[in-house]
Amino acid sequence: MDPATSALRLASRTDDLGTEAAYLVLEAAHRLEAAGRHVAHLEIGEPDTPTPAHIIEAGVRALRDGHTRYAVAPGIPELRVAIAESLAERGLSVGPEHVVVTAGAKPALFYAMLALIEPGDEVLCPDPGFPIYESVVRLAGGRPVLYPLDGERGFAPDVQAIAERITPRTSLLVLNLPHNPTGGVAAPADEERLAELAQQHDLAVLSDEVYGRIRYEGTPRSIAALPGMAERTVVVDAFSKTYAMTGWRLGYGAMPTGMVDRVTTLLINAASCTTTFVQHAGIAALRGPQDPVRRMVAALKTKRDLIVNGLDKIDGIRCARPAGAFYAFPNVAPILERAGLKAQGLADRLLADYGAALLAGTAFGPGGEGHLRLSFATSAEQIALGLERIARCVTDLRTSAPSRAPSP
Ligand SMILES: Cc1ncc(COP(=O)(O)O)c(C=O)c1O
Repeated sequence: MDPATSALRLASRTDDLGTEAAYLVLEAAHRLEAAGRHVAHLEIGEPDTPTPAHIIEAGVRALRDGHTRYAVAPGIPELRVAIAESLAERGLSVGPEHVVVTAGAKPALFYAMLALIEPGDEVLCPDPGFPIYESVVRLAGGRPVLYPLDGERGFAPDVQAIAERITPRTSLLVLNLPHNPTGGVAAPADEERLAELAQQHDLAVLSDEVYGRIRYEGTPRSIAALPGMAERTVVVDAFSKTYAMTGWRLGYGAMPTGMVDRVTTLLINAASCTTTFVQHAGIAALRGPQDPVRRMVAALKTKRDLIVNGLDKIDGIRCARPAGAFYAFPNVAPILERAGLKAQGLADRLLADYGAALLAGTAFGPGGEGHLRLSFATSAEQIALGLERIARCVTDLRTSAPSRAPSP
């Protein structure tokens, strides 16, 4: 059989699945590196620090101790207890019976959306926003309704803009605070107004809090902690970013008990359970010392200032200072206008001609036009190199000089 041809007819339900541009850019960057080029990596959203040693040790010990069999589907009891207790930091009062452990935040989002969205339901998603929301809403038969985020407001959700988009078909509001790709957070008063809105219109809320503990001001909070919200909110979080555990695949959803059985059944259908020894590492992460998290957030704050200050020095770039997460989302509209480019064109040129790997704002929806996304969860050297290459590209665009490949 010719492996290039296929006799398979693929189901149309996957025709419109979206993806994450970060992986495509990473692949393109690796191809350039394999061809001998040097690339500054600002595309991928993961801490560059290793998983803390005590967590690795717990995972290895769990393997040696024989935790290599199936676990109970919603998660091993000790981990569910530790997760429920850890949520108290955000003001949430939930028990282990509310928690379902998953292989990262993504499956928790996936299961929650499949469990909540009826065909034809309208789901409010941020634009720009994590592209997987829109993709899974469509897969579930729903219709994503995008709500804008404004750089002038630090990309905080605009309650009025959200309210205006609610119709009798709206069933779910997706919030992501702190926010990817902008680092925006919501003021407590706005969070209260969003909670009121959800109750007034009987909306479920999917609160993606994977950056919940990566905040540079204030303390972690969850909309689920507000009065009347625990019963209509699914909180999704993961160990991926907080504990530098992206490759371990460990996360969870905390939800009203009435939903736990459905989500657990979805999980049994898709995965049986979450990797058992990884769950033991998760207990060590939550029960062990939290200094590595504090140190990482402090280091990220320094890098945030480095990248924002560096971007603001480049003519034509304005960058809001992210209050959380580890992404800068600079406005580059004047540069694009001058050069007759779209954000994707500039991002492509920065990678191909200058060796700076980053994402176009439009990788996160049409509302990202005029912006780039740079991850600063990388080394200060990579950030400095990236900034230097962006500055060089901007100068070349202004003087229309031919672009120069970076020296290795
Ligand atoms: C907003 C948001 N939600 C969810 C995820 C997925 O997290 P995980 O790797 O734990 O599945 C990411 C990863 O980049 C993210 O940015």
